[in-house]
Amino acid sequence: MTTYDKIWELAKPYYEKGRIFDIPHIEWMQKESNKIADIESLDKKLLLPIVILHDVGYSKVKEKNPHIKGKDIKVFHMREGSYIAKDILKKVNYDKEKSKQIVNYIAVHDNWLLGDNTPFKECKEMAVFNDLDFLWVSTSIDTFKAAADSMGMNPKFFYDFWSKDEKLTNRPFCCPYTQHMWDSSMKLIKGRLDTP
Ligand SMILES: [Fe+2]
Ligand SMILES: [Fe+2]
Repeated sequence: MTTYDKIWELAKPYYEKGRIFDIPHIEWMQKESNKIADIESLDKKLLLPIVILHDVGYSKVKEKNPHIKGKDIKVFHMREGSYIAKDILKKVNYDKEKSKQIVNYIAVHDNWLLGDNTPFKECKEMAVFNDLDFLWVSTSIDTFKAAADSMGMNPKFFYDFWSKDEKLTNRPFCCPYTQHMWDSSMKLIKGRLDTP
């Protein structure tokens, strides 16, 4: 069992209390971030724990499919998540310096919502993290509909909204792999939405 597996084992019980899609969300991000870390020569010791732990704070949120742009819950889950992440990293005796960095990034991982894009500009691992966190929405028609639902939008209306999201201008995809994923996943979603 790798240290990452141990971190995941300790994080899972929190995700079971989290949002409807949290476990597949984190499993998918783990798989993809591992691949991209190899392609882009990224620091897995930083990226993987951020991916595995970033949303544990939703375990403290009652709402199971919260509004994906809702400020209060986002701010709350970042803060609560950073405390839980700190505990888990301590339990597995994770490198102290890295743990500090990981916890600090978890505390700001959705700061784009507050108009702060610095974490994603100063750190390539955070840029990839943000690409994948965003891309999760369009990985399947079910996740796409759930995101639309969280905002009270019909999926077709949400498609137009999502196609013009501020992410695309403020934090453009940071590597060819994620850019390609965006183009192909949105094409598939459009196909599904256009089929009666
Ligand atoms: Fe989050
Ligand atoms: Fe996330």
